[in-house]
Formats: sequence, structure tokens, C-alpha cells
Amino acid sequence: MAGFADALNGQIGYEFAASQQYIAIAAYYDSQTLPELATHFYRQAIEERNHAMMIVQYLLDADADVVIPGVEAPPTSFAAAVAPVSLALAQEKRVTEQIVELVKLAREEGELVGEQFLHWFLQEQREEVASMTELLTVVERGRDNLLHVEEYLARSAGGENALEAGAPPAAGGAL
Ligand SMILES: [Fe+2]
Ligand SMILES: [Fe+2]
Repeated sequence: MAGFADALNGQIGYEFAASQQYIAIAAYYDSQTLPELATHFYRQAIEERNHAMMIVQYLLDADADVVIPGVEAPPTSFAAAVAPVSLALAQEKRVTEQIVELVKLAREEGELVGEQFLHWFLQEQREEVASMTELLTVVERGRDNLLHVEEYLARSAGGENALEAGAPPAAGGAL
């Protein structure tokens, strides 16, 4: 499963890159004293880290080599409070395309167990693109008074997403 395993190893790097981007966004909002936005993105960073570790566990289970790629430093400064969420939405859409390409490759190589593993990621991407689109709407509407955004996030926090229950196991355990 050389090609598929290589591509999965590449995806580990993309997931860690997403995690680092979300830490950068969280730190930016934290520096602007917007604690709910900061908390939201710190949490997203952990989720992306968990995605990477799910792929690590899959490769271990498949007895394939595990590579932990380095990542490029993410942008850390932003023009205004809306920009990080636009960036985050673009990132989620890009990751969706990456997962779709992985599924296509799994099919080409007859890696049906791998394809099944990736189905959860497709669902997760649908959810993440939808929720980031919603957050972008809220931030655009509240750009002149970000306390509205903070209130929105405070009210909607806590409802754990049902997908977490069916998530693939993460190497070392999900955080
Ligand atoms: Fe992810
Ligand atoms: Fe994501």
C-alpha cells in the first residue's frame, strides 16, 4: 500500500499544519481579549492534532511506516477579527479536498479498509466546513461589536458533536 501509505503520511503533516494554524488564530484572539473565540480555536487545534494521531494509529494498525512530517509556520497576524475565520474556512475546504483525494487513491489501490477509515473524515469535514461557515456569518455580522460573537460562542459551547463518539482511535489516546 505504498502510495496510499505515503499519502496518509502526508495528511498527518496537513493535520498538524491545521492544528498549528488554529493555535496561531487562538493566540491572536487571546491577544485581542476575545476569550470565547480563543477557546474555540484552541479546541479546534486539539481536534486537528487528534486527526493526525488517528492517522498515525491507522498506519500502526496497517503495519505501515509512520512519518511525522514537519510543517511550515502558519500566519500569526491578521488585519481584522474576520480574517482568521475566513482563513480557517478556506483551510477546512482545502482539507476536504485532500481527504477526497485520499479516498480516490484508496479506491484506485483497492485499499477498502483504508477507504472505510476515511469515511469518518469525510463526515467530519462536512461538519467542520458547515460550522466554520456558520461562524464566519456570525463574525461578519458582529464585526462592529465582537461581544456579540463572544456571546454566541458562549451560548453554543458545550454541545459535543455526535461524530466524536464514532471517531477512529487516536494513537496514544485522543485529547
Ligand atoms: Fe482535520
Ligand atoms: Fe478541521
